[in-house]
Amino acid sequence: MQKPKKIILDCDPGHDDAIAMILAASNPHIQLEAITTVAGNVELEKTTLNALRMCDILGLEDIPVARGAEQPLVREREIAPTIHGKTGLDGPIFPEVPKKAVVDQHAVDVIIEKVMASNDDIYLVPTGPLTNIALAIQKEPKIVEKIREVVLMGGGTFGNWTPTAEFNIYVDAEAADIVFKSGASVTMFGLDITHQTIASEAILKQISEIGNPVSHLVSELLIYFSKSYKQVFGFDGAPIHDACTIAYLIDDSIFDFEKVHVDIETEGNYTYGTTCVDRLHVTGREPNVKFAHQLDYERFWRLIVSALRGG
Ligand code: RIB
Ligand code: CA
Repeated sequence: MQKPKKIILDCDPGHDDAIAMILAASNPHIQLEAITTVAGNVELEKTTLNALRMCDILGLEDIPVARGAEQPLVREREIAPTIHGKTGLDGPIFPEVPKKAVVDQHAVDVIIEKVMASNDDIYLVPTGPLTNIALAIQKEPKIVEKIREVVLMGGGTFGNWTPTAEFNIYVDAEAADIVFKSGASVTMFGLDITHQTIASEAILKQISEIGNPVSHLVSELLIYFSKSYKQVFGFDGAPIHDACTIAYLIDDSIFDFEKVHVDIETEGNYTYGTTCVDRLHVTGREPNVKFAHQLDYERFWRLIVSALRGG
């Protein structure tokens, strides 16, 4: 078997972030080096509390969890309680106080330290706003050549927070601009691909019948998350956006990609936070992104269900 991929998961749990954590924690192809948190779906206090709660459930005692940015680089913070609820993980009931505590180091410094200590084989996996990643690049530009890939959930050719901007990018477009222009290898899972992951009733039933504590938690997360997507967007269920990043690192053949140029809009009145995805290469600019545009739905969900079965 190939060496496991070393990853730092920078997240804003968040129902789909939590499922990404479960997938990462349960697969032998993934070695979680650290979990860093950022304000996004809800405030930093809550995304961090949720990350610690998930670590308790997954038995991740040895994985450092570090708090990151409370605010975007420039703009006022926006959060998404309409989708994830006031706690950021509404649905399941968690113990009030997690056993695990954060490390006494800022997420940006943990990212820099882990990347600089790696032998160019570490992956950054941001599934929330890109504030921590941008701050790390600004503080230590040398990390760019040592990061194997930035595998991010964000953006797309349409929006879910404005008509053209997806939430993670919109919350901190200035940070996204730094990351996309950094020269790092960016693999982007935007809404074009994540909206292909919506869990069917059959899958929800399969998960509900597995019958262990983690599968029961995922059932409760998906019930709440699906209800939010039905109410807010009229969807049949919830797209498990963030899990695409980990599924890719486990088995990249589940996805099809195009190499495209992507610019981030940081000025537009109506278009702030848009990922300008040049799929037809009309700008003539050098591609800077591996853009996921198609997935094998059955294999994607087989990966998640078998992880929940402990397979
Ligand atoms: O737009 C979807 C993204 O925003 C997901 O990462 C979700 O968790 C939220 O962070
Ligand atoms: Ca997220």
